Amino acid sequence: MLKRHVTVLSAFFCAASLPCHAAGSGYGIGAPIDPKAVSAWNIDIDSAGHGLPVGSGDVAHGKEIFGAKCASCHGANGEGGIGDPLVGGMGTLADAKPKKTIGSYWPYPTTLFDYIRRAMPYDAPQSLSADEVYALSAYLLYLNHVVPENTRLDAQSLPKVKMPNREGFVSDPRPGKL
Ligand code: HEC
Repeated sequence: MLKRHVTVLSAFFCAASLPCHAAGSGYGIGAPIDPKAVSAWNIDIDSAGHGLPVGSGDVAHGKEIFGAKCASCHGANGEGGIGDPLVGGMGTLADAKPKKTIGSYWPYPTTLFDYIRRAMPYDAPQSLSADEVYALSAYLLYLNHVVPENTRLDAQSLPKVKMPNREGFVSDPRPGKL
């Protein structure tokens, strides 16, 4: 019974002149994926900065955007609110209650770009332009005393920013363990 339905259905789709690429093999459905459709999902950036888009942004512009789109959850100066604190915590990693922030904990500046572009603002992810994400990255690194106030970041300069905790991670090369 089920088989008959499937046969009838595929006959219908082919008759309706939808693509029947693999006719005669497999299920006879599907089409090669358009590289443009993949590129919308393929937005990861690695620690060396591969994948960073064209564009740039500076601390002053980042401050403006932060006030409009981020401060409601992260506090006026990134001190935290209903969202995580984004500044501070330097020197607390060995404490009983370490305060892990971009400045005190994150090893790579490129992760900041990737994370903001992918996930923030929390209520409107992936709504920011590349220029806005560079500007916000510059502002948050400035708030954490990692870069000076006149900083402008782009695909070349962002990966070169040295994070304070860059050397704070140890490798754990036990085979078979994550
Ligand atoms: C509606 C509230 C909200 C808004 C608006 C918002 N965030 Fe967030 N943000 C959060 C929450 C909640 C988390 C924690 C998410 C999680 O752990 O899954 C977070 C996490 C983060 C983190 C990671 C912090 C860490 O150390 O793990 C960064 C960076 C960040 N937000 C940046 C931004 C920026 C930049 C904006 C503005 C463009 C923004 N956020 C707007 C709620 C918000």
